[in-house]
Amino acid sequence: MKIVTVMAVLCLAIAASTESNTVMDVLKTLGTESKLVELIKKAKLDSRLEGKGLFTVFAPTDDAFASLPEDLLAKLEADNLLLTQLLEFHVASGKVMSSGLKNNQLLPTLMGPNIRINMYNTSKSSVITADGAVVRKPDNDASNGVVHVIDQVMWPVPTGTIGKEIASNIHLTTLGSAVSKAGLAAALSADGPFTVFAPTNEAFSKLPSGVLDGLLKNVTALTDVLTYHVVPGAYYLPGLGNGDTLKTLEGKEVTIKNSLGAPAMVNNATIIAQIAESNGVILLIDTVLIPPPMHFELVYTKK
Ligand SMILES: *[C@@H]1O[C@H](CO)[C@@H](O)[C@H](O)[C@H]1NC(C)=O
Ligand SMILES: *[C@@H]1O[C@H](CO)[C@@H](O)[C@H](O)[C@H]1NC(C)=O
Ligand SMILES: *[C@@H]1O[C@H](CO)[C@@H](O)[C@H](O)[C@H]1NC(C)=O
Repeated sequence: MKIVTVMAVLCLAIAASTESNTVMDVLKTLGTESKLVELIKKAKLDSRLEGKGLFTVFAPTDDAFASLPEDLLAKLEADNLLLTQLLEFHVASGKVMSSGLKNNQLLPTLMGPNIRINMYNTSKSSVITADGAVVRKPDNDASNGVVHVIDQVMWPVPTGTIGKEIASNIHLTTLGSAVSKAGLAAALSADGPFTVFAPTNEAFSKLPSGVLDGLLKNVTALTDVLTYHVVPGAYYLPGLGNGDTLKTLEGKEVTIKNSLGAPAMVNNATIIAQIAESNGVILLIDTVLIPPPMHFELVYTKK
């Protein structure tokens, strides 16, 4: 009798372990994750995700992959190292349910760099984001972790600071020289987190002639203008509510417009893109922001 009981228990245990509902199984049953499952298999990460864990998977939907630029998806599919890094960035170590997430929590990933979690509360609802991607369906429980479905691929992987990006991004060379002239580069590489509204080179070229040269000759004025573009805290697009005002490092506030169907704006500038960084987020804008008392003097009298 005893032996039979032990055998029965063993059989049950084996059955349980083969049936166990790993994060891979959860991804397959969700119904919105077929591209992610395909890419995980392509990168040969599936056996790892069927293993011991624990894993917290931030799982972009098929729609999220479909909205990537076509050449980027092709590049990922052709470059296994790049694909593996991207996928490993979407898996945090340990099992973290949504109730255990906090605003500005940093979750180390299998790749290395952290995912930044944000919780934004508006009057109507609260939103959880992972590097700016909205968590649509949290807490899909698995035996070796948990899957949170997100609405965007977290790309590019944030491997450097805001300061480093501004110094090296080819669309931000004018801003880069201004930041370095004002001696603000080190501050933008500090822990933060910060949100930087970053005017592109084209935005600077729209300023009336003489304004930029004037600013570059007066570090006080330049610093006022640049710090008016920096807000403490990490405000990804889903965290910008229509009508919100955010206090800048310069001291005055900027005003957000963000309603359905229209691009988000800060003051009179359109937000073109968001870039996750290790110490916050860069929001690219198409117009330079000038603090109110300087606005008339700098922009209108020079026209
Ligand atoms: C948002 O609300 C949740 C629960 O209502 C709270 O735990 C969290 O701290 C709030 N986050 C912020 C950034 O205020
Ligand atoms: C430099 O800019 C500051 C701030 O706008 C202003 O108060 C000051 O007069 C300017 N200095 C010169 C030399 O123009
Ligand atoms: C926005 O632009 C209008 C004119 O087009 C100007 O009067 C106003 O001061 C600008 N607002 C801000 C906050 O820069």
